[in-house]
Amino acid sequence: MMTTIKEFTLIDLENVGLFVNGEWLTSLKEGTFSVENPSTKKIVAHVPKGGQKETEKAIAAAHDAFQTWSKLTAQERADYLLKLRDLMHDHKEELATIMSLEMGKAFLEAVGEVTYAASFLTWYAEEARRIYGETIPASSPNKRLFVVKQPVGVVAAITPWNFPVAMMTRKLGPALAAGCTGIVKPASQSPLTALAFAKLVEMSGIPNGVVNIVAGSTKEISDEIFNNPIVKKISFTGSTEVGKELVVQSANQLKKLSLELGGHAPFIVFEDADLEKAAEGALASKFRNAGQTCVCANRIYVHKNIKDEFAKIFVEKVKQLKMGDSLAKNVEIGPLVNEEGVIKVKAQVEDAVNKGAKILIGGTNGNLKNGYFFEPTVLDNVTNDMDIMKEETFGPVAPLTIFESDEEVIQEANNTKYGLAAYLYTADLKRAITVSEALNFGIIGLNDALPGVAQAPFGGMNESGYGREGGHQGIRDYLEEKYISLEL
Ligand code: SIN
Repeated sequence: MMTTIKEFTLIDLENVGLFVNGEWLTSLKEGTFSVENPSTKKIVAHVPKGGQKETEKAIAAAHDAFQTWSKLTAQERADYLLKLRDLMHDHKEELATIMSLEMGKAFLEAVGEVTYAASFLTWYAEEARRIYGETIPASSPNKRLFVVKQPVGVVAAITPWNFPVAMMTRKLGPALAAGCTGIVKPASQSPLTALAFAKLVEMSGIPNGVVNIVAGSTKEISDEIFNNPIVKKISFTGSTEVGKELVVQSANQLKKLSLELGGHAPFIVFEDADLEKAAEGALASKFRNAGQTCVCANRIYVHKNIKDEFAKIFVEKVKQLKMGDSLAKNVEIGPLVNEEGVIKVKAQVEDAVNKGAKILIGGTNGNLKNGYFFEPTVLDNVTNDMDIMKEETFGPVAPLTIFESDEEVIQEANNTKYGLAAYLYTADLKRAITVSEALNFGIIGLNDALPGVAQAPFGGMNESGYGREGGHQGIRDYLEEKYISLEL
């Protein structure tokens, strides 16, 4: 049964279309796939199932559009990005509602994501005008040497369901600013936010073909993206497992690839930390998007002398979190995205309890039986042999474990194949610097649980991927550096 929310202006849930070359493709031979509201398990919409043909068409459109978009001045491209940014702000609540409906992000958090997403357009509109080249001293008096930067061409963004709009603008912002055009393949759980965003692209006057959005068969779309020689760069956010397959696929044409993959963030609370602030940080980091971010605290290490006190403050805060239908304005914890999410979280909790962990709060689905809910949970007495200390959780479960020395906790924190984000709380300046330097992660939150901002580089080490998004670094992969040697 379909839900009956019809008040949207950006998307008609009963007639959803893919966005290719400025046209809306509403009916395809391949039929549709359905999108479910994880708070109620009811179908929200049926979306045309794009495949190889639509992707090929979108890539061809992006290629045509590239011929003119890449020739615009940086200021002209920036103006378009700023117009799109303004439209996002004007339609913030609607975008957030659509997002919340299709993937379960708590409404107010979804509004926050739209603001965060828009900030990437502001930042890259500004960066467009700072794509500087270089001059190099020549070896002979009759030569002049230059490096110019040019857009790589048509690019593809494969985006995840946990940040349906922010990961799109974090990729499209630098791409469009650099002069590239492209195609977005949103996750099958969250195509509606992307297609509502496409409506804003249309309203902004960005020329046809510059941005194309094709949802549908992941295999067909992704095979076409990787096999079509027009596509020069792909940016993917998703699991490490899929990221590794894409590396293999990209080898055939040596496509540029950037990967923002899984994480298993340690969150370290030292004896000298401000415990109130650390508990507040752990709450923000762990329960953001119901624990479904790649940078969520996944292993909470607390110095043994303060563990009980920290646990008490933390549990009191967790008790205040309200779980419920993600569209409700007073809810902080929405459902998980789907049933597999709940199964995984339950299995980790069961495994931990069987091996001796103690549940301080939560541990069940609560009394919300209609959606994919799992209560905010805190586990105590967690040890390294438990699955939760080895695997990404992607759910609202906070495992507490103790440590005694800085050396020990650094070693434990680094003992993972991942390397995306790590957090530490301490009042000791020397410790703050030495531990930050010793942690093998791309992002360090030092007394800061929410380090992500448009002007800073976001990305991981090791099996958390490569490449950086955000910051001045985030535009690099969308540019070729061309060396020109001139003999006078
Ligand atoms: C992510 O988890 O992939 C993104 C989180 C962020 O941008 O802060």
